[in-house]
Amino acid sequence: MDTIDINGQGLHASRIGLGTWAIGGWKWGGTDEAESIRTIQSAPDKGVTLIDTAPVYGFGRSEEIVGKAIKQGGLRDQVVLATKCALEWDDKGGVVRNASRKRLLKEADDSLRRLQTDVIDVLQVHWPDPTVDMHETAEAMDELKQSGKIRSIGVSNFSPEQMDQFSAVVAIDVAQNPYNLFEREIDDDLLPWVRKHDTRLLGYGALCRGLLSGRMHAGREFKGDDLRNSDPKFQQPRLGQYLSAVEALEQFAHQYYDKHVLDLAIRWLLDQYDYSFALWGARTPDQLDAVTNVPGWHLDSDARTEIEKIVNAHVTDPVGPEFMAPPARD
Ligand SMILES: NC(=O)c1ccc[n+]([C@@H]2O[C@H](COP(=O)([O-])OP(=O)(O)OC[C@H]3O[C@@H](n4cnc5c(N)ncnc54)[C@H](OP(=O)(O)O)[C@@H]3O)[C@@H](O)[C@H]2O)c1
Repeated sequence: MDTIDINGQGLHASRIGLGTWAIGGWKWGGTDEAESIRTIQSAPDKGVTLIDTAPVYGFGRSEEIVGKAIKQGGLRDQVVLATKCALEWDDKGGVVRNASRKRLLKEADDSLRRLQTDVIDVLQVHWPDPTVDMHETAEAMDELKQSGKIRSIGVSNFSPEQMDQFSAVVAIDVAQNPYNLFEREIDDDLLPWVRKHDTRLLGYGALCRGLLSGRMHAGREFKGDDLRNSDPKFQQPRLGQYLSAVEALEQFAHQYYDKHVLDLAIRWLLDQYDYSFALWGARTPDQLDAVTNVPGWHLDSDARTEIEKIVNAHVTDPVGPEFMAPPARD
């Protein structure tokens, strides 16, 4: 498994990261704690040493499960723990943005407790908050770094203009944004920005919420509050377009590389930028088995052009990941 350093201070992580949103249960139809712990504990054995979580994932649940799995497995020195801040929730499950200094300092302490660790390796501002001055947010993140509670600073879902404002106060080590074969909104703006600044990119939704796993089918039913019940990509007739693209990509991967579409999707993301990481959500250990199919080969520019043609030919009515954006406070 390839690894890269995150902020030049001895923080090395695998280029495939385990995403633990689904492990929190919220918006994913619930969670199975024992299976989640097995999944997290199996990751380092497979070379996956980056783990991404957030307080809002299950309103603390994902961080608690990650903390428990790492503690029980004695794995803290083998993993890079990335979490987030700047979203708050109420008793009814309503979520709003809050990137105030007060909120960030409180959240860092809450995350340290839930993760059962002395230091957070990567703390990311989950969403930009238009009601708080960017200087206040950036200074609070710097304060957390200076105090030794966090090792590196990240932002998520920021535009290049917001990255400019933030980095005028303190350097951004990591940017986390949606990025996968079907969600390429960052190609024209954020990707050039991170390339210019050598910022590490954590591409989230690397499998487009399971669409690019090759296992998704039109009859799949999603339990309870699973976000795919309302995800516009998972509604017909658009779902049919995405699934036929997946079928064509599977054929392409098989014919030219003897691989599967899932392998191709992750390889594609990693080959887009030398300092990118692919965040791959999994909730059972076997879902991570295919990580071994990713290293050792690359997609050249002809292959990337061909892949783009396949996607464009099948997905004639594309839609982005905007539906996931939480609202700002009133
Ligand atoms: N910063 C942000 O705003 C933000 C937003 C979204 C995500 N993220 C981060 O990015 C991570 C990854 O994104 P994501 O979890 O939303 O979506 P994802 O990685 O695109 O898809 C995850 C889902 O794909 C399915 N899957 C995974 N491996 C599979 C396999 N081998 N075979 C079949 N199905 C498989 C599973 O769904 P089933 O188990 O239901 O089949 C899994 O829950 C998150 O966990 C989170 O850490 C961050």
